[in-house]
Amino acid sequence: MQTNTPCTDHFRAEHTSVRRGLDAIEAELAAAPDTDDSRPTRDAFLGLIILFERDLARHLDDEERLLYAALRHHGVGDDAVLHACFQEHGDIRVGVQTMRRVWSRAFPGTPGVVAELKDCAARMITLVREHLEREEGSLFPRAETILTAAVLERPDASGHCFPSARSNGRSAI
Ligand SMILES: [Fe+2]
Ligand SMILES: [Fe+2]
Repeated sequence: MQTNTPCTDHFRAEHTSVRRGLDAIEAELAAAPDTDDSRPTRDAFLGLIILFERDLARHLDDEERLLYAALRHHGVGDDAVLHACFQEHGDIRVGVQTMRRVWSRAFPGTPGVVAELKDCAARMITLVREHLEREEGSLFPRAETILTAAVLERPDASGHCFPSARSNGRSAI
């Protein structure tokens, strides 16, 4: 990966990977009846939780640590779009914890739990998709207007370029 790419482009690419994951899991869950607690359905729920807890969580952390922090540093702290995006990060994190809690008491055979998990999954998928759209439609273009190319390429105030965090063996989304 090139090191002089704007961080917003990295985040867009990660959005594409997240969407691909959501689409695949959503299709699997749509095919499963609400009473289906079979292994494939359980695996689909677990795959979604792992996507949220590992890949998406890292993405949100990176955005806050790099892009959101850079925007605040450059005087955009009161921006309504930035505020809404930050709030959505919080909502996503709470939703993931809720989904993990439901999952932890889920199987095997707890009555109604598949329907409850499907409901959780649908709400989370909608929330995440809306958040990605807000960032791509409003926040990223705004950042690209306000921040210089140099800052977008190296938003970390310490001067470390963004992709260096990707070389430690963590999974790529
Ligand atoms: Fe975000
Ligand atoms: Fe994002």
